Amino acid sequence: MNHHIEVLLSEEEVDRRINEIGEQITKDYEGKTVHLLCVLKGGSFFMCELAKRISVPVSLDFMSVSSYGKDTKSSGVVKIVKDLDESIKGKDVLVVEDIVDSGRTLSYLMELLAAREPASLRLCTLLDKPERRVVDVNVDYTGFQVPDEFVVGYGLDYDQLYRNLPYIGVVKFDED
Ligand code: IMP
Ligand code: MG
Repeated sequence: MNHHIEVLLSEEEVDRRINEIGEQITKDYEGKTVHLLCVLKGGSFFMCELAKRISVPVSLDFMSVSSYGKDTKSSGVVKIVKDLDESIKGKDVLVVEDIVDSGRTLSYLMELLAAREPASLRLCTLLDKPERRVVDVNVDYTGFQVPDEFVVGYGLDYDQLYRNLPYIGVVKFDED
């Protein structure tokens, strides 16, 4: 469908906010190692930028999840496409996501991770669309709340494109 992208949050705004979150995380995890857990692919751009701005020791791991069949929307069950390389038992885990929308993916994922007995488990998301929430998710760090529109950039895609935009844009569908 014909569309164009309008800037919602500029590169400078996003950059400034990630700096603030990095400083906050540095304070909150003083004396600890924070184990960042990136949810692929969307969380990757945010996690790299965030990790550079945290001054306590950081370790990283990645996981990839996908919708499980057609029922995902209703069941909230997600399939682990790529699991973590290392155990999270006893670690201070901070999950890094691109966006919390309905909350289905994250609520499922957080429960699954909690069962693996980390020392602590928190969630950091670049964007939050609270209007769309269906399942309650406790978000510890939020970059920005965004309106109920389809957003791209900074890891977020539309049909696998636009992840590389250095800003957050809204997809506007052209009429005709
Ligand atoms: P959930 O609805 O909270 O489970 O979100 C699931 C996933 O949908 C997110 O991690 C994103 O990958 C994707 N998603 C939700 N809203 C948007 C959007 O506005 N743009 C791009 N991806 C989105
Ligand atoms: Mg995602």
